[in-house]
Amino acid sequence: MWSCSTMDAARLPIDGDPLEHAGQLIAIGRPDEAAHFLRGRVAEGRGSALTRILLVRALLAAGAPAEALEAARENALLNPGISEAILVLGEALMAAAHLPTAIAEFQRALRLDPSSSAARLRLGLAWAEAGEAERALAQFREIDAGDVPDIAAHIARAEAMRTQQRSDAGYVRHLFDQFSADYDARMRGQLGYQAPEILHELAGMVMPGRHDLVALDLGCGTGFAAEAFADMVAAIDGVDLSPAMIAKARARGLYRSLEVADMETSLARGGADYDLMLAADTLVYLGDLAATFRGVGRRLKEHGFFLFTVEMSSAAEFELGPKRRWRHSEGYVRRLAAAAGLDVAGLVAAVPRTEAGVPVEGLAVALSKMQTGTK
Ligand SMILES: C[S@@+](CC[C@H](N)C(=O)[O-])C[C@H]1O[C@@H](n2cnc3c(N)ncnc32)[C@H](O)[C@@H]1O
Repeated sequence: MWSCSTMDAARLPIDGDPLEHAGQLIAIGRPDEAAHFLRGRVAEGRGSALTRILLVRALLAAGAPAEALEAARENALLNPGISEAILVLGEALMAAAHLPTAIAEFQRALRLDPSSSAARLRLGLAWAEAGEAERALAQFREIDAGDVPDIAAHIARAEAMRTQQRSDAGYVRHLFDQFSADYDARMRGQLGYQAPEILHELAGMVMPGRHDLVALDLGCGTGFAAEAFADMVAAIDGVDLSPAMIAKARARGLYRSLEVADMETSLARGGADYDLMLAADTLVYLGDLAATFRGVGRRLKEHGFFLFTVEMSSAAEFELGPKRRWRHSEGYVRRLAAAAGLDVAGLVAAVPRTEAGVPVEGLAVALSKMQTGTK
């Protein structure tokens, strides 16, 4: 997570030295004392907007995000026209991991005071956290280096995000955290989603009769693949970037274990412990698949299978398509499989879903790991 190292001085009248003192206590790492003092002032009926803003910052610094959010919400209700009150509400929302609402509050703070570098910086950082490099850059580029000395470093990081050969983890998490509530209904209804069932059919062709398998579902989402493969697996683990999707998967009650993690990172840990690995409509969020294929090659047992869907590209390797989904060419998939020591056991044209009623052309692929020494 990016941090905000600079902050505009609150543009409010300082109502006495005690508040300056509370600000100093926060600055020197004694936020609990500051919070205690500021709570007291609020309780005595001396809770000016600045007092309450400092209280929120003290509580955030003291690691009490829930209390900070409550205090920030109350302050924003009492002082809806004060930019800093709204800004600190955004900060408390960020700390409580409510990214979309935090972004809305930073935008509101900026509307109230368009000259606030603090609000602009926070908004840029929040967009960056959401993986929205262009939006982050648009804010950062408006900020004077006199106000935020390390703005050049923030710009450099956002520019690096733009050139990533995969979707940003923050963007994916944000997208699916928001999508999770009606994911199942929209995917099955509007989008005619069939990837897990297509992969199950492919499994029937390339690995007939296999059952009691130990499986890993990469980008498990809400758990459709665990349902589709229930007849073949003895145990299935899931990994996904989105905590909200993982919560839905957990509620399905089919997984042995679930992990909120990036699949590239997760695959890099552990040994060859899976008979089957699945990635249903997940690799569309990765452009370069080399790290994933390498990880799968390592984590599959001998005679294990990796089944996945991709959207088809006629580019040499991969390209970013509409809706920020990556497409991959058949040649690229075959080359990478060989490089990871995996054989192509099956590769068929498939339509994993539709987009605006139009079938999305894709591939369903089965790779297998041969016995060491047989190649
Ligand atoms: C379209 S959904 C598919 C979910 C599930 N496989 C299914 O069949 O319904 C894509 C899922 O992949 C996850 N995802 C995308 N990139 C990921 C990554 N690098 N690591 C882990 N999960 C990822 C997303 O959070 C999302 O839940």
